[in-house]
Amino acid sequence: MSRIIVTTSGKGGVGKTTVTANIGMALARLGRKVVLVDADFGLRNLDLLLGLENRVVYTAVEVFSGECRLEQALVRDKRESGLVLLPAAQNRTKEAVNPDQMKQLVADLTKVYDYVVIDCPAGIEMGFKNAVAAAEEALIVTTPEIAAVRDADRVVGLLEAQGVKRIHLILNRLRPAMVQVNDMMSVQDVQELLAIPLIGVVPEDERVIVSTNRGEPLVLAETPSMAGIAFDNIARRLEGETVEFMDLEAAQNGLFSRIRNWLFG
Ligand SMILES: Nc1ncnc2c1ncn2[C@@H]1O[C@H](COP(=O)(O)OP(=O)(O)OP(=O)(O)O)[C@@H](O)[C@H]1O
Ligand SMILES: [Mg+2]
Repeated sequence: MSRIIVTTSGKGGVGKTTVTANIGMALARLGRKVVLVDADFGLRNLDLLLGLENRVVYTAVEVFSGECRLEQALVRDKRESGLVLLPAAQNRTKEAVNPDQMKQLVADLTKVYDYVVIDCPAGIEMGFKNAVAAAEEALIVTTPEIAAVRDADRVVGLLEAQGVKRIHLILNRLRPAMVQVNDMMSVQDVQELLAIPLIGVVPEDERVIVSTNRGEPLVLAETPSMAGIAFDNIARRLEGETVEFMDLEAAQNGLFSRIRNWLFG
């Protein structure tokens, strides 16, 4: 049975594409066959984060119009052969696609892949409707900011109405030092507001930005990073493993560097 998961948030810029790229790569490294579908038509980014932008020939739109076969549009990752990308068109709008086309496309992909992970655009309009049309599970990404949390709450309601059953929360860009002095919502605060099960907490980490610019998901980095480990842990939890949540406050106080030295030192 394939898993069909949409990464969504409501609010823009909270880390959906970063999460999709890293979790996709992490799942492929765990031996899964993974296809990442960029559903951000008109503003695609996933190809860049994966470093695959130069190899995009066709996109989902050409598949829909019959200009190419689905296999021709898929871009295989050179680092992990289990990972492929279905790019979105850059020069078309979100109206170039409809929910029925997305459902058919995803149904075709589930014949081959263990995981179909769909990167949703910001907002709750047509692009969102297309991205969630075929989804059976959702990863809700939010940052610990009130606007992002409120938008996430709205999206959870829409997904439930759509019949999406397994909805999990990823809290991204947490800054433990700010939480400690009450300048930022804590994991618990966000969890209480949204009341959906937590599957990961990703700290603010400047290496995310470096990895984005290099087109190399952080889970591939040789030196481990807090965010990279957090993404790996999310992939393992999706796979059903019980993985303890990292103690980010302790990590911030130097424990992480000690463990890192001990493990990799
Ligand atoms: N944990 C993190 N630490 C530091 N920077 C991060 C983190 N997560 C994401 N970012 C940065 O935040 C920015 C937005 O991330 P991303 O593009 O993944 O968001 P998005 O939700 O997909 O945005 P959009 O709604 O525009 O599609 C990027 O510059 C990314 O590098
Ligand atoms: Mg995005």
